[in-house]
Amino acid sequence: MLYYSTLTTLMSKKIKLDIFLEEYDSDTQLPAESLMLINQARDNCKKAYAPYSNFLVGAVALLENGEIVSGSNQENAASPSGLCAERVALFAAAARYPGTVIKKLAVSAAKQGQNIYQTITPCGCCRQTISEYQTRQNQPIEIIMEGHGGRIQVARSIDMLLPFKFSFRHLD
Ligand code: THU
Repeated sequence: MLYYSTLTTLMSKKIKLDIFLEEYDSDTQLPAESLMLINQARDNCKKAYAPYSNFLVGAVALLENGEIVSGSNQENAASPSGLCAERVALFAAAARYPGTVIKKLAVSAAKQGQNIYQTITPCGCCRQTISEYQTRQNQPIEIIMEGHGGRIQVARSIDMLLPFKFSFRHLD
C-alpha cells in the first residue's frame, strides 16, 4: 500500500513515501456503505460527553460480520482519563467481537450546538490503536473522515496516516 522510493546521496539514502487519501467533494459521492457509516458517525456526535472541549466526536467501526459498533468521545475532569471516539469504538468492537476483522472506521466531529461538521483526522494515539488492530488482523482498516468544506477524505489503510509505525512485529 505504501510506495517507497530511495534517492542515494553521497553517504546516505533518502527515503520518499507516497501517501495518498481519496477525497470526495461531498458525502453524496461516497459509496452507499461509506455514506451510511459517516452518517452514523455524525449521529454519534450527539452521544459525546465533551463538556470541557465542546468538540463532539462520533465514530463507528464496521466489522466483517456486519456489526457496526459506535463510539463517541468521553471526557473527564482529570483530562487523561477521557478517551477519543475512535478508541471507544475500536475497544468496544474488540471487546464484544474479539478477533473479528474491522473493515472500516468512520469519524465525524461537530461543535456543541452546531450542525456543521468539523474537519477531523484521528489523533496520534488513535492512529497507533488503529494500527495495532490492522497489524493484528493483517488486513487494512479504511478510515473515513470529515474533510474541509463538506468534503470527505478516505484513507485506505492506517499506513496512509501513520507511516513508519511501531508494531508488535518490532518486538520479535
Ligand atoms: N478527540 C476525539 O475523540 N478524536 C480525535 O481523533 C481527536 C480528538 C476528542 C478528544 C477530546 O475529547 C476532544 O476531541 C478535544 O480534543
